[in-house]
Amino acid sequence: MLLHKCLRRLVTSSVIRICPSRTLYTSSNHIILGIETSCDDTGCAVIDGSGNILGESLYSQNAIHTKYGGVNPLVAKILHRENIEPAVAEALNKADKTIKDVDAIAVTTKPGLLISLQVGVRYAKYLARMHSKPLIPIHHMEAHALIARKYHDLEFPFLVLLISGGHCLLALAKDVDEFVLLGKGLDNAPGEVLDKVARRMKLKNRPEYSRMSGGRAVELAASKASNPGLFEFPLPLARVRDCNFSFSGLKDSLERKLIKKEFEHQAMGCELIPEVNDLCAAFQTAVAEHLVHRTHRAIMFCEKNNLITPNHRKIVVSGGVACNNFIFKSIEYLANQTGYKAYRPPPQVCTDNGVMIAWNGLEKLRKQYDAHKDICVKDIDPTAPLGKNLVNQVKSANISTKVTRLKHII
Ligand code: KG4
Ligand code: ZN
Repeated sequence: MLLHKCLRRLVTSSVIRICPSRTLYTSSNHIILGIETSCDDTGCAVIDGSGNILGESLYSQNAIHTKYGGVNPLVAKILHRENIEPAVAEALNKADKTIKDVDAIAVTTKPGLLISLQVGVRYAKYLARMHSKPLIPIHHMEAHALIARKYHDLEFPFLVLLISGGHCLLALAKDVDEFVLLGKGLDNAPGEVLDKVARRMKLKNRPEYSRMSGGRAVELAASKASNPGLFEFPLPLARVRDCNFSFSGLKDSLERKLIKKEFEHQAMGCELIPEVNDLCAAFQTAVAEHLVHRTHRAIMFCEKNNLITPNHRKIVVSGGVACNNFIFKSIEYLANQTGYKAYRPPPQVCTDNGVMIAWNGLEKLRKQYDAHKDICVKDIDPTAPLGKNLVNQVKSANISTKVTRLKHII
């Protein structure tokens, strides 16, 4: 019944045309609302059919979760529930639109924290039902990857390195809805590790870092290092010839070095060790070297298997950790060495946001996505993988890569 009502409204709309297969076509005055609640940020955005951002809102929970030592799912859910309505209203107000002007609602359905995803999906479904709007389910990691296409000339296929607080992935983006997974995180994500080591080094006790994410604090502290070569870290998975990632060993290694230095300096309570900037610099370099090492193999795998033609030698770095200039420059260095070009979206859309969800909705509509399927509870998938899994094929290819040491390069 709802579907029929919805169809009738859309058929009579001047903005959206429906073909017999119920495909929505886009036009430049098409309005898309994007809703993101997969982790700890409630993000909303309103964009038009040309991809222009008309209004956006972001309710970050970072400051609250920091007190709990990481994202607390129950707290995240409560805050999403509090914030979702004002966040949508704010994005619409800034766009000078009402929900009636919206032609489609894109919402993150996977992957992420189940109870956080549910808040966004339930609210999107409620809006869709109340106002007869079509819904577009969005894969959070696809959205991180494809938002780069809003800012750069990136035709498919291209490589993507997605690095955030919850994920670490290497993939080939073949189309809007076609990805090939080349490598994935085996334990902690890089952002998660940076947050944990920042907390362990007590960076928050310095006022200049007290209000920023752990990753950003480590980057800033590292930029003040006087001896970035003071600490040595091992290269994770050095002998494993795949593109997977492991950051937990680096975290443990930092812990051991820190304990030794704290003991040496008797740095108790809230005191930081005097070499904290050097330790941050060495750790950040170790994270970057691991990312570069795995990405190098992904490039070689794509080249060996002709997955990327010479005019598509492009790599997108996205996700919160892509905001890190040292890490991006490290990938850029590798790209230059291998004949590739590295891209990243602007920092405000590297981290979680509503714009990337609305943009992905628009990309799907441009690809004639059938927006008439209702989103069901089973569509919410907290552990959804990204695309077709080629991780084992990469390993079987047994490609050896030289280690790139970045200390003296960047
Ligand atoms: O993509 P995102 O907003 O959320 C997830 O989907 O996880 O990424 C958040 C992560 C946090 O772990 C944060 O510490 C990290 O991105 N991050 C950074 C920087 N800015 C944010 N890591 C390193 N350097 C930065 N400048
Ligand atoms: Zn994310």
